[in-house]
Amino acid sequence: MNLPHVQIITFGCQMNVCDSERMAEILQAAGYTVSLGGEDDAVGSADVLIVNTCSVRAKAEQKALSLIGTYAKQENPPLIVMAGCMAQVHQRELLGKVTAVSHFVGPNDYYRLPELLGGSLKGRKVWTNEPQCGEAHDFIPAACSHTGPSAFVTVMKGCDNFCAYCVVPYARGPERSRPAQDIYDEVKRLTEQGVQEVSLLGQNVNSYKGSGSVATFADLLRYVAEVPGLKRLRFMTSHPKDLSADIVKAIADVPNICKALHLPVQAGSNKVLKAMGRGYTREHYLDLLQMIRSYVPDIALTTDILVGFPGESESDFLETASLVELADYTDLFVFAYSPRPHTKAAELVDDVPQKEKVARLTKIVEIQNIHSQKHMEKLLGKELKVLVEGPSKSDKSLITGRTEGNKLVHFSADVKPGSLVTVKITAIGTHSLRGELCHG
Ligand code: SAH
Ligand code: SF4
Ligand code: F3S
Repeated sequence: MNLPHVQIITFGCQMNVCDSERMAEILQAAGYTVSLGGEDDAVGSADVLIVNTCSVRAKAEQKALSLIGTYAKQENPPLIVMAGCMAQVHQRELLGKVTAVSHFVGPNDYYRLPELLGGSLKGRKVWTNEPQCGEAHDFIPAACSHTGPSAFVTVMKGCDNFCAYCVVPYARGPERSRPAQDIYDEVKRLTEQGVQEVSLLGQNVNSYKGSGSVATFADLLRYVAEVPGLKRLRFMTSHPKDLSADIVKAIADVPNICKALHLPVQAGSNKVLKAMGRGYTREHYLDLLQMIRSYVPDIALTTDILVGFPGESESDFLETASLVELADYTDLFVFAYSPRPHTKAAELVDDVPQKEKVARLTKIVEIQNIHSQKHMEKLLGKELKVLVEGPSKSDKSLITGRTEGNKLVHFSADVKPGSLVTVKITAIGTHSLRGELCHG
């Protein structure tokens, strides 16, 4: 019998990308054929469409709904399942409204997908989940079939920080950490299958809580870095209020921990940081950067900035702009504030006009471009280790890989994905580098 074809389309963060891989594995193990893709891959037909959604900004939700609408209009529309954060946050109100969706499956219930699809496709009435924290099924291990040189491994889930603007704690529930031994075993299995680079994932990895000799995130980093054959270890995301010197020392000491750190600051004004409930000040954050650079001078530091939070005045914004100047990041992501349901900020007046939000966002991008360019110029002529990903998307005659600082490098060579090669940087573009393979 031919089991149906399931298409999974993923929106949102790495956590969702990782969850979609787990969903695919669960369904493949149950005999389904599964294809995975991002929003750009959303073409063609499938028997079942799973949309793994993101609720972090209104725009992400609109995109998912419009994708669902497009599929629902097909002549033979697929069975549509909404998974992910939007399913968790909005299922009750969407249930009667978005009739094209047959089922809503929150991030804690993916283990039930075969039961759900099996029943629905046979015309049985089956369950739609209630928000909950499934204990036994919290961390679904990766299957033994990973392909590609890089993999994500979830180390903790949820968030207890409740930053005033953020929906994640409502979508992902309270913080819980995965046992260190399970993490180690999964990384070992992946490495034995040829994975060279592992990114440890969590909404706030710094508050990882283990036990015994692996009690903290710094302990976990050192422990996992020992997996034989693991070439690169990365992690995200770090909250500045929980970043300890021990974590920074681990980055400095352990050769296969990448010298890169994503440390979202969100804003540079103490008034706004306080209103956001971030738990640190501008001064503390800048001191933290100094401490980090004293241990790891060449670290690739990146951040997230949120502009237009309620009450953010022009002078508050200028403090964010000046922090971006001072911090000298290698890269950043900047977002315009979008009010989210359930959050504390949703009760405040969204008083920065959209036009002003866009102007502030553009200003941050302009400042950062100068810093990004300067950091890339410093790499000119350097010989860097590059982990090969595959053919370059823009020019198939070239191949693409990433530096330890997560910069894309395009170069010409006959090397397999997963190879760790040395490349001399010969030119810089807007967002990527060009290079030549070094022999010997
Ligand atoms: N756990 C991570 C990030 C979670 S969401 C952390 O604590 O930093 C990723 C980014 O989306 C955030 O860093 C923030 O900049 C942005 N973001 C979150 N909520 C938002 C909102 N309501 N509007 C606009 N951007 C938002
Ligand atoms: Fe959201 Fe704040 Fe938690 Fe990050 S730390 S996921 S921004 S609530
Ligand atoms: Fe990630 Fe979006 Fe959910 S950022 S945790 S998929 S709300």
